[in-house]
Amino acid sequence: MKVLHIDSSVRQDRSVSKELSALFIEELKGVNERAEIDYLDLAEHTPEHPSALFIKGNYTIESERTPEMVAELVESEKLVDRMLAADAIVIGMPMYNFSVPSIFKAFIDNIVRINRTFKMVGNSVEGLLTNKKVVVINTRGVDFNNDNMDHMDQLRPYLKAIFGFIGITDLTFINVSPVQFSEAETREKAISKAKEEIRHIATNFIPNLAR
Ligand SMILES: Cc1cc2nc3c(=O)[nH]c(=O)nc-3n(C[C@H](O)[C@H](O)[C@H](O)COP(=O)(O)O)c2cc1C
Repeated sequence: MKVLHIDSSVRQDRSVSKELSALFIEELKGVNERAEIDYLDLAEHTPEHPSALFIKGNYTIESERTPEMVAELVESEKLVDRMLAADAIVIGMPMYNFSVPSIFKAFIDNIVRINRTFKMVGNSVEGLLTNKKVVVINTRGVDFNNDNMDHMDQLRPYLKAIFGFIGITDLTFINVSPVQFSEAETREKAISKAKEEIRHIATNFIPNLAR
């Protein structure tokens, strides 16, 4: 089983989402000795935002791309290859301003590519990344359920839509909140509960290997 482990917090230390995504991977390795982990820290390796040349190259068929277009797409091709190679994708993700961190959005803009991760069939879109599982460990400063703020959540609906677009419909969300704006005891309780959930999900994790 190949797992792409992505972290998207800009914090380099004391990151709750990084600690918890690392725990998920440790637990997974404990029950899958042969699991191969490909690690991507988006804070350390932030993908470039797509440029005008990137877009032009993306919509030019491969055989007709100029050397400049090819060079502009190199990083994106490598990221797409890492997504294609993975059976499962485990993501540590803090909520930033009700949505995904902008470094993760830059990653998405690099991997949602015509004829690589989706294709057009007539007027319809067909996602090409089938048989993959995604686990999102989502930390939040506040507890949206308790604070009656669920309608403001743009993270979960966005991830469902964008992963669905490229063919990934098997998504598991582990919500960890509150991790910031509350009493220490409440935060610790939320993190302990998430750790239990992570151990349970990771140790029972069966990827979709039928490709
Ligand atoms: C720029 C920024 C925006 C944030 N926006 C939200 C938000 O909209 N909702 C929320 O619950 N927490 C918000 N937070 C709090 C983070 O979600 C929280 O600190 C994070 O989940 C902790 O994860 P980490 O330790 O891995 O960085 C925000 C934090 C930052 C830095």
